[in-house]
Amino acid sequence: MNILILGSGGREHTFAWKFAQSPLCRALFVAPGNAGTSQLATNVAINVTNFEAIKNFVVSAKINMVVVGPEDPLVLGIYDFFSNDDALKEVMLIGPSKHGAQLEGSKEFAKEFMQRHNIPTAAYRSFTKETILDGLAYLKSTKAPYVLKADGLAAGKGVVILEHLEQAKTELKSMLLDEKFGAASKTVVIEQFLKGIELSVFVLTDGKNYLTLPTAKDYKRISEGDKGLNTGGMGAISPVPFADEAFMQKIENNIVIPTINGLKKDAITYKGFVFIGLIKVDDNPFVIEYNVRMGDPETEVILPRIKTDIVRMLEATAKGTLNTISLEIDPRAATTVMLVSGGYPEAYDKALHITGFENMEGSMAFHAGTTLKDGKIVTNGGRVLAVTSLEEDYKKALKKSYQNIEKIHFEKMYYRKDIGFDL
Ligand code: AMP
Ligand code: GLY
Repeated sequence: MNILILGSGGREHTFAWKFAQSPLCRALFVAPGNAGTSQLATNVAINVTNFEAIKNFVVSAKINMVVVGPEDPLVLGIYDFFSNDDALKEVMLIGPSKHGAQLEGSKEFAKEFMQRHNIPTAAYRSFTKETILDGLAYLKSTKAPYVLKADGLAAGKGVVILEHLEQAKTELKSMLLDEKFGAASKTVVIEQFLKGIELSVFVLTDGKNYLTLPTAKDYKRISEGDKGLNTGGMGAISPVPFADEAFMQKIENNIVIPTINGLKKDAITYKGFVFIGLIKVDDNPFVIEYNVRMGDPETEVILPRIKTDIVRMLEATAKGTLNTISLEIDPRAATTVMLVSGGYPEAYDKALHITGFENMEGSMAFHAGTTLKDGKIVTNGGRVLAVTSLEEDYKKALKKSYQNIEKIHFEKMYYRKDIGFDL
């Protein structure tokens, strides 16, 4: 079949790499893609939220399946756009409906969903401009640290954790009254702080059946020791060593099954990935957040471990027959280390020439912010390359990634040397 991937990061390059190995994939396109995807597929210069342009391309290139990488098009309703259009409704679109995408698009919606379906999560209340006085009083009645979350999408910046009550009050005012995160912070969720170690579990569902994909742990902060500003993700490991069988069973029973059943009970159309951000408190998993897509850089460690034909998996997702698929996972560990441009996640340069790919041995370089300029691969974003390795255990895999990173060069290249330090 002809497949179109929407997005331009390491996640999308990894999908393209995986699809290119499937005998079911005939022509492969990525919109807008990057230098890495252009080596495996045809890049198409279309923005992921330009639904009309996507439609025209899908029709003219006879696309059979569209796989949506990032959340924006999903939250904007690309699934519904396809299913309501006569020319597109037969196209398999992998992702939730606009209703389902609210699990990521609105923290309040997600909290209500969890509460309704008895899914363990932090206690919370939500507030608007009209109820700000109640919000300030609520903060006073709870204990530090204070967790404030802008309800809507805020490019990963909408969660603020503060130690002092006065700071928390000021932050609440700035979110609600000054709309610090624009419309995204018109509603703010204040929730109980949960102390523990984080991990993520990924589920592929057709709305009735599901497959639990490997677990992963990502490293979001820019500096070693999990310090400094938040980023899109600086590295990841799969599987998560502390997620043993007993813990996974709890995740399955207390979280995954109630989530899938909750989608059914609420009549939410959902044919795609559910990314469940978890925190392990004592020995129990709690949900921190849902995302309605795969993670980046988690995809760079999960897909390389999936041996089953992913195109077949996604076709079964679209057709509602995921129960016919058995998942085969590579028992080896995968790690990825993200190479970023100096300055990221604040200002950084672009168009820096990247060299050394040809010297890498035994790792894969998934491209994130790269593009081609005069035939050369140059940087085109903050996160530039994800260097993934698969080995017997995560320590060996990390060693391999770090050995290969030594061979890659661009000006002001930076990466964390301590991925996995807390395991
Ligand atoms: P999110 O954008 O929802 O992934 O939140 C960003 C980060 O904030 C998470 O990865 C956690 O590290 C932290 N976080 C979110 N909610 C909580 C919570 N209730 N307790 C402790 N940490 C939290
Ligand atoms: N790595 C976190 C995310 O994709 O949201």
